[in-house]
Amino acid sequence: MEKALIEKLIDTAIGQLDYSYAPYSHFRVGAALLTREGKIYTGCNIENAAYTPTNCAERTAFFKAVSEGERDFRAICVVGGKDGVLTEYAAPCGVCRQVMMEFCNPDEFQIILAVNKERYDMFTLRGLLPRGFGPDNLARPDGGI
Ligand code: THU
Repeated sequence: MEKALIEKLIDTAIGQLDYSYAPYSHFRVGAALLTREGKIYTGCNIENAAYTPTNCAERTAFFKAVSEGERDFRAICVVGGKDGVLTEYAAPCGVCRQVMMEFCNPDEFQIILAVNKERYDMFTLRGLLPRGFGPDNLARPDGGI
């Protein structure tokens, strides 16, 4: 992926930290999800007083995109840190990796973890979710659902 595009995703994800709603953990997370057509969907974490309804930044971005008809994704950039201060990578939780598995080819989809535009790393979904379970596991040989 071109460096300029990676940098745009990093900037966009960092911009989402302002919208993070994290009054309980104070851990702010931002995400920028890139479709294959080049559109970017944003997301932040949204916490809840009942705790379990909390939605991660990655899933916010995915659900926004899928709810608008997108199904074809190329990459996601994720940033996060306590009080929005970025010092190390914030890797997607297991639930978010599973949501990615639903919509993305694990060998192609790229997950960019960043601290800033100089410090980032890229992983495939396969790398972060080896032997993941996905739609292919439920596909029937006769084509039924
Ligand atoms: N969080 C995310 O938004 N994405 C992740 O992949 C890891 C965790 C959020 C959830 C919660 O609001 C806060 O970070 C602390 O777990």
